[in-house]
Amino acid sequence: MNAEDHRISSDWLALREPADASARAPDLVERLGRHLPAGRLTIHDLGGGTGSMGRWLAPLMPGPQHWVVHDRDDELLEVATTDLPGPAADGSAVTVEARQSDITHLQPDDLAGAALITASALLDLLTGEELTGLVDVCATAACPVLLPLSVVGRVDLTPADPLDARVTAAFNAHQRRATERGRLLGPDAVAVAVEAFGQGGGEVLVRPSPWRLDADQGALMGAWFAGWIGAAREQEPDLAAEIDAYADRRRAQAVAGRLAVTVDHADVLVLQA
Ligand SMILES: C[S@@+](CC[C@H](N)C(=O)[O-])C[C@H]1O[C@@H](n2cnc3c(N)ncnc32)[C@H](O)[C@@H]1O
Repeated sequence: MNAEDHRISSDWLALREPADASARAPDLVERLGRHLPAGRLTIHDLGGGTGSMGRWLAPLMPGPQHWVVHDRDDELLEVATTDLPGPAADGSAVTVEARQSDITHLQPDDLAGAALITASALLDLLTGEELTGLVDVCATAACPVLLPLSVVGRVDLTPADPLDARVTAAFNAHQRRATERGRLLGPDAVAVAVEAFGQGGGEVLVRPSPWRLDADQGALMGAWFAGWIGAAREQEPDLAAEIDAYADRRRAQAVAGRLAVTVDHADVLVLQA
């Protein structure tokens, strides 16, 4: 792990899991279902963390499934192998295996026999070179690829505030920051993925998958806001005083139950040629 790669906590992944489940585009699962082979499915979940994707998707698909969850974080993988998905849609067994690895170094053999490759909330954390490398290794597996929940750089807060656009721009610049690995894609990841997979000749489908947060998701909204504002502040230290005053205004609105936030994401399904 490089110095700039902060660890993603299992608490954060648990907090966002219900919102992720509500946001992912169900019609892409229906399309995907028409492109899966009969028999036991081997599904590779890249950057799978605690296994949230399997807990959402496995019960929506029929037939026996074996999920291989790849992540560099062994503590998250431990959760993935203990908090297992429910049975498949037809009651078939679902098994889970953890593989600790850096998914930017995957080789074709690592994905041999895959019926499906998925990566949820991962693409925006990669550099352009890492993403195109991943597209190349997915191409060797020649199976569908489902990529939900990449951030796209749009956030809508209600009521509006004059500082919204500047904080959003600062956050997006932070998402695109230069690292030891290269510049991160952040909100550009979906466009890069669509272009790279499209060049392979497959059909590429994109759907919106926003989080819609209000007082009923207060804990998630608070944690999301802390991360969003913290990144913007780190990116624009000269704006710190204005950002702090903005954060106080927004927190007061949230406490009063008057703040609603939409965080836009996109889901991508690739039906490889
Ligand atoms: C935002 S979390 C999403 C986790 C999970 N897919 C979900 O939807 O809950 C991103 C995950 O990618 C993992 N990750 C990021 N870069 C990675 C890399 N290069 N190799 C392996 N895992 C990586 C992180 O450890 C983390 O678990």
